[in-house]
Amino acid sequence: MSESITLQVNGASRALNVAPETPLLWVLRETLQLTGTKFGCGMALCGACTVHLDGIPTRACITPVGAVGARAVTTIEGVTGEGSAVTVARAVQDAWVAQDVAQCGYCQSGQVMAAVALLVSNRSPSDSDIDSAMQGNLCRCGSYPRIRAAIHAAAQQLTTSPDATPPAADASPTRSR
Ligand code: FES
Ligand code: FES
Repeated sequence: MSESITLQVNGASRALNVAPETPLLWVLRETLQLTGTKFGCGMALCGACTVHLDGIPTRACITPVGAVGARAVTTIEGVTGEGSAVTVARAVQDAWVAQDVAQCGYCQSGQVMAAVALLVSNRSPSDSDIDSAMQGNLCRCGSYPRIRAAIHAAAQQLTTSPDATPPAADASPTRSR
């Protein structure tokens, strides 16, 4: 049965009338038309649906919309908009373009969301840090070497940029699976 639910999405309050067990992914894609977040497996196995809830990478395909509560939902459409991750998100976006990371592109919004969360909590990730943070985000095109290079490039930009801001305390690479 539908209920009135209010979500905070990309900095805006969105009033919805949906069944609380509806996956957040469907609400984002179908109700709010935020189609940058992709459906891959629907079982928390591929990472294509990764969004942030209060800065934490979360699988939208297995998250009931009724369980989101007051947590801020950030999607690929909003990650460069405002909030503590903006500087990181813009560095990641620049690096993704410079490294020409995307191939078919299907997995890439989830990859970017995972990379932003990693760099918010760790501005100098090692290869193993990157592999650990990104292991749940699969890429059928095999763009992993370029993803890793782009994360290192973004980290480099963040440590040399004069407007680089310190890591936010409210984000970590922990994720729901
Ligand atoms: S769609 Fe694959 S993890 Fe959500
Ligand atoms: S770029 Fe094609 S699935 Fe990752």
